[in-house]
Formats: sequence, structure tokens, C-alpha cells
Amino acid sequence: MDSRKTPSDSRAVMSEVVLPNDTNPHGTMFGGRLLSLMDKCAAVAAMRHAGIVCVTVSVDSVEFTSPIQLGEVVTIEAWVNRAFHTSLEVEILVEAENLIQKERRQCNHAYFTFVAVNEHGKPDSVHPIHPETDLEKKRYERAAMRRELRLHLKGRLDLKDTIYLKDDLIAAISRRDL
Ligand SMILES: CC(C)(COP(=O)(O)OP(=O)(O)OC[C@H]1O[C@@H](n2cnc3c(N)ncnc32)[C@H](O)[C@@H]1OP(=O)(O)O)[C@@H](O)C(=O)NCCC(=O)NCCS
Repeated sequence: MDSRKTPSDSRAVMSEVVLPNDTNPHGTMFGGRLLSLMDKCAAVAAMRHAGIVCVTVSVDSVEFTSPIQLGEVVTIEAWVNRAFHTSLEVEILVEAENLIQKERRQCNHAYFTFVAVNEHGKPDSVHPIHPETDLEKKRYERAAMRRELRLHLKGRLDLKDTIYLKDDLIAAISRRDL
């Protein structure tokens, strides 16, 4: 039996109805409430892959593109794009659904990074992930570029020490394909 784990093995899905307690005075969902659900779903995907506790270490820029209304159902889907040494990149998609009007739309898309930790809260190694489909392979490759970019922007990685960014960064940024 092939015991190699793939991105789809890590997939996690959560749905919730938006209730009054989740909304602002405009009757739309609080951004912070949505971020909390995204973090929870992404943590499930990270831990499903790692098999140990994972904590959020960074959240890439998040854009709220469409307000989610009271009474709509919010569905969050998350999966691991790539596992590095102790960290994992998780991609998250958010959709809102109006069950009465039978409309569904994408509202949010983000990348969160998690670190697997041991019982002392120290980073612990994670096993690699094995992308299978063309889309998973593309996400896997892009994840390495995004990792270098976010570490560079945080001052944790010098540009001269990057492997993937040098040739591809400008091209990928200009294509808005990172
Ligand atoms: C996560 C934590 C254990 C990492 O500790 P650390 O001493 O920074 O560990 P390291 O420098 O060895 O980095 C560990 C991994 O995190 C990655 N990392 C660190 N900062 C990062 C950032 N800003 N963005 C992306 N990855 C980051 C490193 O690249 C490394 O990954 P790798 O092993 O795959 O190469 C520590 O920062 C922590 O406990 N943070 C709080 C986490 C938490 O409580 N989250 C919930 C929010 S309340």
C-alpha cells in the first residue's frame, strides 16, 4: 500500500450558518469571525497532514471581496500545498451560499503558514507531501516561491539565499501568479 500523503489527504471542509452573533450592525459577517473559522479549518488540514499539533505562524494578506450576509452559509475548504521542514503552507477557500436563492459565490482566498510543534512547543519536522494532479503540482511549486517571499519580507531570508525567487519572482508577481 502507498502510504505517501497527498494534498487531498489533508483536505478539511467546514460549514456554518451566519447567526446574529457573528455579524456587525450592517448584518454582515465580522471579518475577525471569518478569520477565526479559516484558521480553525486550516489547522485541521495542517494537523491532518502532520499528525501532530500545528500552530499558526503567519497569515498572508487576506482580502474580503464579498460581504457574507446574516443567514447565509459559509463554507471553508483548506488543504496543505506543501510541507517544508517544520512548516506547512495551507491554502484556504471561502464560499458563501444563499440556500433560499440557491446562489453560491467565492468570498475569500488565503494562504496560512503553520508550524508543527512538539510537546514543548518547539518546531518539529513534518513529512513531505506528494502532489499528484497537475494543479497540486503547480500549487506545490508556487508554495516554495511564496515561502521564500514571505520569509524575505519578514527579514528571515536574504535574497541571495533564495533558490526559487531569483529568476521567477518578477515574472510571477507581474502575472499576479504567486
Ligand atoms: C511557531 C513557533 C513555534 C516558531 O518558532 P521559531 O523559533 O520562530 O522557529 P524557527 O525560526 O525554527 O521557524 C520554524 C519554521 O517556521 C517558519 N517561519 C517562521 N516565521 C515565519 C513566518 N513569519 N512566515 C512563514 N514561516 C515562518 C520557518 O521558516 C520555519 O519553517 P521550516 O522549518 O519549514 O523551514 C513560534 O514562533 C511560536 O510559538 N509562535 C506562536 C504560535 C502561536 O501561538 N500561534 C497562534 C496565534 S495566537
